[in-house]
Amino acid sequence: MCGIIGYTGSEDVKEILLDALELLEYRGYDSAGIAVKEEKTGETKVCKCAGRVSDLRMICETEKLLSTCGIGHTRWATHGGVNDSNAHPHRCGRVTLVHNGIIENYRELASDSGLTDKLVSETDSEVVAALLNYYYKDDPKEAIKKTVKRLTGTFALVILFEDCPDVIYSVRNVSPIVATLCKEGAMLASDLTALCRFTNEYFVVPEYHILELHKDHIVMTDFDDHVVEPEFLTVDWQLNAAGKNGYPFYMEKEIMEQPLAIEQTIRGRIVHGLPDFTADGVPDHIFTDCDRICIVACGTAMHAGLVAQALVKSIIHMHIDVELASEFMYSDPVIDEKTLVIAVSQSGETIDTLEALKYAKKRGATCLSVINVKGSSIARESDYVLYTCAGPEIAVASTKAYTTQLSVFYLMTAKMAQLRGIFTEEETLCFIRELERTPDTIKEVLESRKEIHIVAKKVLSAKDLFMIGRGLDHSALLEGSLKLKEVSYIHSEAYASGELKHGPIALITQDTPVVAAATQEKLLSKELSNIREVKSRGADVLLFIKKALAGNLDQEYEVITLPDMRDEFMVLPTSVALQLLAYYVSSDKGFDVDKPRNLAKVVTVE
Ligand code: F6R
Repeated sequence: MCGIIGYTGSEDVKEILLDALELLEYRGYDSAGIAVKEEKTGETKVCKCAGRVSDLRMICETEKLLSTCGIGHTRWATHGGVNDSNAHPHRCGRVTLVHNGIIENYRELASDSGLTDKLVSETDSEVVAALLNYYYKDDPKEAIKKTVKRLTGTFALVILFEDCPDVIYSVRNVSPIVATLCKEGAMLASDLTALCRFTNEYFVVPEYHILELHKDHIVMTDFDDHVVEPEFLTVDWQLNAAGKNGYPFYMEKEIMEQPLAIEQTIRGRIVHGLPDFTADGVPDHIFTDCDRICIVACGTAMHAGLVAQALVKSIIHMHIDVELASEFMYSDPVIDEKTLVIAVSQSGETIDTLEALKYAKKRGATCLSVINVKGSSIARESDYVLYTCAGPEIAVASTKAYTTQLSVFYLMTAKMAQLRGIFTEEETLCFIRELERTPDTIKEVLESRKEIHIVAKKVLSAKDLFMIGRGLDHSALLEGSLKLKEVSYIHSEAYASGELKHGPIALITQDTPVVAAATQEKLLSKELSNIREVKSRGADVLLFIKKALAGNLDQEYEVITLPDMRDEFMVLPTSVALQLLAYYVSSDKGFDVDKPRNLAKVVTVE
C-alpha cells in the first residue's frame, strides 16, 4: 500500500525521490507525488498526479526543481477517489506532508477545529496537514505533539515545515518508517527497499517518537523531549537482489530464486543433521511447553500455515488451528498461556496479523513469528522470531516467501517431533535430509518450465477453473489457485476432491478446465477416481503428479510429472510448478504480472 520516501542531503532530491518511488511501486498504488524545498527560495513545490510514477516523472521534467531536500509518496486510495487532488503530498498553509495509514476521526477533527473550509481533497491525510498548520506556531515539534494527541488511527507522517529549510520531520503509530544516515545524506522510507541502494544500515523509528532528518545528522526525541538513540540494524539482503536481473518480471526472478532462498533459510538451522534454532534465540521449551498451536496469517502466508497444520497434525498428533488474522480476534479464539501462537508474514507489516498477534499476547500466549523482513513490526512485537531468508520479494504475488515459510515449518515439525519423542534421532536425521534435497528438487521443476509453459496455454481462455486434490495436495492447490486468480484474473477455486460431489461438480463443463494434483500415494486411487469424474463431464484436465505415481495413467490428461520426494515434502515441488503455471498464464495474456490490479504488496489497512 502507500509508500513513503524522504531525503535531505547533498544530491539532487528529485531523482532520488522518483527512483525511490519506482522501487516502492511494488507495494501497490494509484497516484504519486513529491514535494521539494526549492534551493534558492526555500519555497516548497509540489508535483503530484493520479497514475504511475512514470507519469509523475514526466510532470517533474517540465518543472525546474533545484533541490536537495524533499518527500515523496505513492498512494493506494482509501479515503477519496483516485485523482490528482487526493494524491499526496498535501499542503496546508506552512505545512506539507505525506501520510500512510488511516485517520479514523478525520471528520470530527476537521469540523471541531473549523478546518473543513480549508480542505481541497477528500482525504483524511489533508485534515492532518490542516491540523498541523493550525498548531504550528514556529515550533514543529510542539505542532506535531499537539496534532498527534488528537489523532485516532494509524499513521506514518512525514512533514516539511515552510520555515525549516532542509529538515524533514516524521512521527508514526503502527504504520512503519525506517530511516538511515549515509554519506549522501539522511533518508527515511516506508520500507527498506527504497533505502537498500544507499546503505545496509537502518533503524526502525519507534512509535510516538519525533524524528528530525538534517543533511548530516539525525535527531530523535520522545514526546517528553528526551533524546533517543536509534538502534541500527543491518540488512543482509544483496543490493542487487531488489533488481530484475534480466528477467522480464520480478515474479519470474523470484520463482527462480527459490532453491537458493530455501537453502539460505535452512542452512544454519541444521546442526549435525538435526534442526536447531539456537542461533535464532528460540528455546526448545516453547515447543514442548505448549499444549496447542494457533497459526495466524493472511493470504499466502496463511496457506503456508495450512501446510504446517497438516504436518503437525499427522506427525505430532497435536491440536493446531490456522486462523485468518482478519477474523482472529473477533472469533473468540481459544488462547491461553499454554498456546503457542505463530504469526506468519513476508512483510511483517500486515496489520491484521499484527493486531492478531497483539491480541494473543494480551491473552498470555507465547508468540513466535515467521517473517521475511528484519525488524518489521510483527517481528518486533513477537517473543521469538524465525526469519525466512528469501531476500526482497517485490512481485505482489508471493512465491519465494511462501516456500521459505514452508521450509521453516518443516524444520519446526522435525524439532517438535524430536523433542516430543515422536521421531527417533535417526528419523529426525532422515526427515531433515529430505528437506535438504528440496533446493535440488525445485531446480528440477524449474528446468521443466518450458513444459509447464506449454500446458499453461491450454487455460489461457478459461473464465473459470477448478483445482482439485486431497490432503497436502489440497493445501498446495489452495495456494496455486490464489496465485492463478491474482495474476491472471481467471476465476479459480481449489476444492478437496472429495467435496466436488457435494456441490461444485455442478459447475464442471467442457469450459471449466481442472488442474489436479496427485502426489500422495495413499490417496492416489481416490484422487484418480475424482479426476475421472470431472473428465467424464467434459473438463480438460491438467494433472500434476509425482513421477513415481505416474505409472498407468489414462492418456486423456495433460500430465506434468513432478520430481519424487517423500509425500510430506511434495507440496514444495507442486507449489513451484503451480507458481510457474500462474506466471505463464499471466505473462502470455500480456498482463503486468508484478502489479495485479487492486492489490498491494503490503496490506497496512484493516
Ligand atoms: C498473495 C500474497 C498475499 C500475502 C498476504 C499476507 O500472493 O502475497 O496473499 O500473502 O497479503 O502478506 P504478508 O505475508 O506480508 O503478511
